[in-house]
Amino acid sequence: MKYLLLLCIPLLFINCKTEAPAPAPIQGLIAQEAMVVSAREEASRIGVEIMKKGGNVFDAMIATDMALNVTYPFAGSLGGGGFLVYRTKDGDIGALDYREMAPGAATSDMYLDEDGNVIPGLSTEGSLAVGVPGGLAGMFAVHEKFGSLPMETILKPVIDLARNGYVITEKQAGRFSALQDKFKELNGDSIIYVNAFAKADTLKNEALAQTLERIVANGKDEFYKGETGQKLVDFLQSKGGIITMEDLAAYEAKWRTPVTFEYDNLKMISMSPPSSGGVCLSQIMQMIEPYDISQYGHNSVESIQLLTEAERRAYADRSFYLGDPDFVNIPIDTLISDVYAKNRMETFSWDTATKSSDMTHGALPGYESMETTHYSAVDQYGNAIAVTTTLNGAYGSKLYASDIGFFLNNEMDDFSSKPGVPNMFGLIGAEANKIEPGKRMLSSMTPTLVEKDGEFWMTVGTPGGSTIITSVLQTVLNVHEFGMTMQEAVNAPRFHHQWLPDVVLFEPNSFDPAIISGLQEKGYETNEERSPVIGKVDGILVLPNGTLEGGADRRGDDTAVGF
Ligand code: DON
Repeated sequence: MKYLLLLCIPLLFINCKTEAPAPAPIQGLIAQEAMVVSAREEASRIGVEIMKKGGNVFDAMIATDMALNVTYPFAGSLGGGGFLVYRTKDGDIGALDYREMAPGAATSDMYLDEDGNVIPGLSTEGSLAVGVPGGLAGMFAVHEKFGSLPMETILKPVIDLARNGYVITEKQAGRFSALQDKFKELNGDSIIYVNAFAKADTLKNEALAQTLERIVANGKDEFYKGETGQKLVDFLQSKGGIITMEDLAAYEAKWRTPVTFEYDNLKMISMSPPSSGGVCLSQIMQMIEPYDISQYGHNSVESIQLLTEAERRAYADRSFYLGDPDFVNIPIDTLISDVYAKNRMETFSWDTATKSSDMTHGALPGYESMETTHYSAVDQYGNAIAVTTTLNGAYGSKLYASDIGFFLNNEMDDFSSKPGVPNMFGLIGAEANKIEPGKRMLSSMTPTLVEKDGEFWMTVGTPGGSTIITSVLQTVLNVHEFGMTMQEAVNAPRFHHQWLPDVVLFEPNSFDPAIISGLQEKGYETNEERSPVIGKVDGILVLPNGTLEGGADRRGDDTAVGF
């Protein structure tokens, strides 16, 4: 035995010298009871303060959301819309759709010229790009169903923040500067966002403070029937817009049934149409489930290949089948079934890439056709939410309604302006997502909750247009398949594929060149230059000891706050 030990010592020594110790896991903020992770520290903190006052996660949602309208105008919800997915402490689940809708005067060819060609810019900039905003209706629907504190208490710190100002970050100053000419072109030079901003400047928004005060006094009708609504309509009409007071009055947030499906021992709960998020996520995960992904290794040729092929098939279906469920008949059950997933993957080969041009949507027997932000929060009672809201592009249509203090969305571009013509995210749409009055445009937003063995486990989501679905997918897989912490899962480099264009996007300088060339050899076209970042994911994970780990994306100013 002694000799054996002596023999082993040099071996141990050699091992120590040649094998670097495994790096310590990188963890995000740990909190005992409650947490908010959002795009801005102020918004996360205001949400957490509301929970410390005894409020629940839904009260915190409203406070965080409205604080993002102040501090993150890039994607504020007042002039836009979004989706909530929730799970209560009792395990009840649900979803709220407060997506924008097309105005009553919208027509399927409103962005086409006489020759039937799409007029560049019309659906992305200025007044015709704006859909009827749903954000405030969403907040009031949540408050009515789940709120436990008065709106006045919830909005007080937000109003103070708008009035007293917040400090601009370096990334934000850069974004404001880059868009100065555009802001001026669309709004003149008297708006608060036309200015030479620098890091650490304070920005106040008195008009927004007053709008929020009127909302506290008059409720939802202030926006949809009252003075704020009238100011909004007058402003848009002065810019040639078509939204009327009748459109505002007709707007309602809708409770929806989330898409749910199993993956291993996880139950995924994600957003249903008019978002494509839950359906696509489900399709992709059903297609990859039969494979032992962890064995291929994180971001290996095999795992990228497998995910890309599943994504190709799911996005081709998205383009054909998905739209507003109140207008089109979506065969959700078939699309998310494991039998359909298995059939869809029959053409998959490890040897060579499937060509998107050789592939279209799957055949379904009997089917008759007829800049965003995400936050995740958990409260001390055990309720959890995932919320993604958007104006669509950065600062939406770039139209800023000075009197009421917020930017208006350019969500109309999420409709298919013309079948086969890509929108600003390169997504191709068809009949199911054509413009119709009162219809909601198809989204990719994927606010998602995950249960593990029946218990709440994760809340996650991200902005990023068409890359939202694939970013959420990779984050969940990073934790579940590759054993990462929440923060590591968020940090990990991401890639993206969406059927058309037939290219796999990679975050620049993040992937081993041998992996990229390995994929190219199999026929994959790759691009490492097009997207500086793919997604900006925020999430919260319940650790085995019951504490919460936040994952706030380093790609932005995102911050976790908790207690
Ligand atoms: O609903 C959608 O899918 C898009 N309007 C989201 C836009 C977006 O994420 C932009 N953010 N970077």
